[in-house]
Amino acid sequence: MSVEPVTLQQLPTDLNRNLLPQHVAVIMDGNGRWAKNRAKPRIIGHQKGVDALKDLLRCCKDWGIPALTAYAFSTENWGRPHSEVQFLMTLFERVLRRELQEMKQENVKIRFVGNLLDLPNSLRQEIDRSMEDTKNNQGIQFTVATNYGGRHEIIQACQAIATKVEQGYLKVAEINEEIFEQHLYTQGIPHPDLLIRTSGEMRISNFLLWQMAYAEIYVTTTLWPDFDRVEFHKALATYQRRERRFGKVK
Ligand code: IPE
Ligand code: IPE
Ligand code: MG
Repeated sequence: MSVEPVTLQQLPTDLNRNLLPQHVAVIMDGNGRWAKNRAKPRIIGHQKGVDALKDLLRCCKDWGIPALTAYAFSTENWGRPHSEVQFLMTLFERVLRRELQEMKQENVKIRFVGNLLDLPNSLRQEIDRSMEDTKNNQGIQFTVATNYGGRHEIIQACQAIATKVEQGYLKVAEINEEIFEQHLYTQGIPHPDLLIRTSGEMRISNFLLWQMAYAEIYVTTTLWPDFDRVEFHKALATYQRRERRFGKVK
């Protein structure tokens, strides 16, 4: 497993503790290219990517950021070669099993969002167990988007709401943003303040489409397995220089 870095253990002094994002979302991209650059199979990049995520979670805890969401597998990622998909599913399961005890101890509350029903049974069992075992934890809220697609999430919310209308529990005129949010996978989790995407791609790739309405977007060309505390520090420093206007004028 990753070695605890000796540097940046605490919040860097140039960052303002009162202006930290309360929720950071990450599109962990570039694992394949990281491996390719080293003439290694793509799966090695995914393995290294787990270490990067583990340290980012710990870093959020160390620096006082209360919520982290990571995009682990999109609804579109099923289109990859079967062997890679298979590897990822097994990797998720293995990592969850290995890390659950530590997450419990570190007071992490883990939640999975996405269409979990279509995941392999053995992975679902680990997911259910991890959510159940950490549901009362009060520390960092760690959300993993697995078989997640923003469009799918919106459609399933529409279906759930339409069913309530059809059955007479809700009136059409009562549907508002608040009601809608209650039917999203992310119900109860605040919207991300900062979205980080690694590997230089300037797109959202179907991630948290509704929730991202006013997130500050930070893109770095660093590939995900190389994303460390130094990189996170840069992202946070950039975030703190942004002026968030939410459509208003200063
Ligand atoms: C992100 O890295 C990990 C997942 C999508 C699971 P990629 O696998 O997309 O890496 P690149 O983009 O091909 O380099
Ligand atoms: C987004 O990365 C999905 C995850 C990081 C899980 P992709 O590599 O799948 O995105 P595209 O294909 O470059 O848009
Ligand atoms: Mg990619």
